[in-house]
Amino acid sequence: MKALKERILRDGKCFEGGILKVDNFINHQMDPVLMKSMAVEFVRRFASTDINKVMTIEASGIAPAIMVGYLLELPVVFAKKKRPSTMENMLTTMVYSFTKDRSYEVCVSRDYLCPGDRVLFIDDFLANGNAAKGVIDLVQQAGAELVGMGFLIEKAFQHGGDYLRQQGIHVESLAIIESLENCEIKIRE
Ligand code: G4P
Ligand code: NA
Ligand code: NA
Repeated sequence: MKALKERILRDGKCFEGGILKVDNFINHQMDPVLMKSMAVEFVRRFASTDINKVMTIEASGIAPAIMVGYLLELPVVFAKKKRPSTMENMLTTMVYSFTKDRSYEVCVSRDYLCPGDRVLFIDDFLANGNAAKGVIDLVQQAGAELVGMGFLIEKAFQHGGDYLRQQGIHVESLAIIESLENCEIKIRE
């Protein structure tokens, strides 16, 4: 997606360890106009997919997910990273975070992820795909179906996307970063 690629080149910043900071328009300050355009692009790319629910993981996935849910007029459920003391009827999975080198629990209520749901998962970044694997596990536990995964930014050099596509999942990424070597942002054409 042209507008996103241009914005990454303009405002994105490279950090040690293959990290791309996009705090100017996604992860700290947010640009709702660009966010809406990105949601419109997801709706276009998943137009032939039968979806009844949008899902994400807190926190940074919520903004793009709610824009997509708004356009599709579908509910948006976000998996939580801290088990709420009062939440019953919960599905949980463990996610290993590469950037933090530790595992954390992710959970969602069976009340909002239900058997037969046709789930479109939306998130800001796809890196190694560990968060995505956790979502696949939650969706399976719920007896729901994962019909697609949409990411604003995929880092191709971390290969989470390869894994998901090999699983036969319909993956759409609006910008694919080939490399961040030598602090130079290379985006796939
Ligand atoms: P993975 O899920 O694909 O395996 O990735 P990883 O464990 O490395 O990612 C952990 C967190 O870091 C995720 O957010 C992910 O979105 C984010 N992340 C991964 N690579 C980058 C990057 O290059 N730039 C930025 N800005 N973020 C990246 P999170 O910690 O779960 O938090 P939240 O921001 O959604 O709350
Ligand atoms: Na995220
Ligand atoms: Na993040």
